[in-house]
Amino acid sequence: MSQAKTILVTSALPYANGPIHIGHLLEYIQTDIFVRYQKLRGQTCYYFCADDAHGTPIMISARNANISCEELIKKYSEEHQRDFRTFSVAFDNYTSTHSPENQELVYHIYDELKKKNNIDSRVIEQFYCERDTMFLPDRFIRGQCPRCQAEDQYGDVCESCGATYHASEIKNPACSICGQKPVIKRSNHFFFRLNDYKKELISWIEEGHVQVEVKNKLQEWLQGELRDWDISRDGPYFGFPIPDEDNKYFYVWLDAPIGYMASTIDYCRKNNLDFDKLWKGDTDIYHFIGKDIMYFHCLFWPAMLMGSGYTLPKEVCIHGFLTVDGVKMSKSRGTFIKAEVFAKHIEPEFLRYYYASKLTRSIDDIDLSLEDFVFKINADIIGNFVNIFSRATKLISKLNNTLADVIDSNDPILREFQNANESIADMYASRNFSGAIRKIMKLFSDLNKYFNDASPWIVIKEDPERARQILSTTLAAGAWGSVFLKPVIPGIIKKIEDMLDIGILTWKDIEDDSSLLKKLSHHTIKDYVRLADRIELKQIDGMIEESKE
Ligand code: 2FM
Ligand code: ZN
Repeated sequence: MSQAKTILVTSALPYANGPIHIGHLLEYIQTDIFVRYQKLRGQTCYYFCADDAHGTPIMISARNANISCEELIKKYSEEHQRDFRTFSVAFDNYTSTHSPENQELVYHIYDELKKKNNIDSRVIEQFYCERDTMFLPDRFIRGQCPRCQAEDQYGDVCESCGATYHASEIKNPACSICGQKPVIKRSNHFFFRLNDYKKELISWIEEGHVQVEVKNKLQEWLQGELRDWDISRDGPYFGFPIPDEDNKYFYVWLDAPIGYMASTIDYCRKNNLDFDKLWKGDTDIYHFIGKDIMYFHCLFWPAMLMGSGYTLPKEVCIHGFLTVDGVKMSKSRGTFIKAEVFAKHIEPEFLRYYYASKLTRSIDDIDLSLEDFVFKINADIIGNFVNIFSRATKLISKLNNTLADVIDSNDPILREFQNANESIADMYASRNFSGAIRKIMKLFSDLNKYFNDASPWIVIKEDPERARQILSTTLAAGAWGSVFLKPVIPGIIKKIEDMLDIGILTWKDIEDDSSLLKKLSHHTIKDYVRLADRIELKQIDGMIEESKE
């Protein structure tokens, strides 16, 4: 069952110019559950991430805030890491793409690609704003859609009719920063010849490193010639200068994924580990990303790795977008909810639980229905899970908090938990968290039924030792199920570990026959502590109100 290979996991790097919101959290929570599961199983597993600190939007945000780019990215790095901690997202290392380690790796990889003749250069024409003295990325051009004539559309896509076009086609273009009409300017750019890797990419994708739906989409893209990728930008630009060039920088999307490695190398240097062993050796690398950045991670990135001799991802794990009550998050509806605001109103681990209950391997969008959220948390976490501990521990307190001398592992309810080990493990490993949650909740509802049928609150009056047996079986099954839930709600499970006074639970405790049961036999636990509270609708209302703009 257990896998000896080292596992290295990443989530997409968040841009360092905005706060973490519940849409981002879908991915970090999905990744964190996967990582926690691996660690719980005793696997060597690292979770690396960083802020994505370069590019024009970051430069403009800093300009607007009247601070330097360095100040801006420092502020967001601190905020992001605070928010991740609040939601129990536990990276092994978190750095920034604006780091010497990243620069060193970017230069190294670029050199390798150059040696392989994968880099071309040619002059291109681009919009340039003379007032802002900079070339304008498509997103910084506004104008009239060439197809439907809608006003105020981006330079590459019309949000009104969905047309995509080249910036030169847009009518009445204007710089979105200052409003002035841009001019067309020529400049020499560097390109990565992605098509050089077409054959290798086709076989890599054939090997099944992505979900089926993704494979189909990639195969569609791979049918034609793959276009060269423009990896350079003219200054002023916040990024790494291209060696031996004047006023040219690497495009943010070239250095961003290399940030996965840079975060690794930083960790390796601090912990005396061999970086090459992780990125050139036999490591299982998993990248968790959203479906919008599939092209970067399933074509450009593997090609860059192939060209520079690094290990290819074992899997690119792709998820869909988050909707709230069936539609895109919206600032006017108050559903564009920042991590910080969510945590102010609602227990963060409830969001982890809800997302887990919805996450599968599919790339379909995931809906956070606020009504269903309240219902599910109150029914599952409070009514089904917490309820067992609060009822059983309160009763055992009348019996000196001490569990029975022998807890019978053959008791049918305990057997049921034991028999679930393998299928729950498989579901976590294959990212079918929704299936795992369904199974765990079924176990707990059976445990509640066992408890109600056995009625220890009545038995205790006549036969306290029999009641002790029932309560011990109940708490042992509850502890067993706590191991199952630990990747999802680690903070709540920590309170249970403290309350049961049994140290840190791992999968080992439920794996080698009944070590958990031995630990609990004739064991004295602590008094009940509140594990979690019901959510009230008014908490949701408060959160929505505060998120409205
Ligand atoms: O789409 C984004 O939010 C990017 N900042 C993700 C970068 S992921 C990786 F390539 F670094
Ligand atoms: Zn301008």
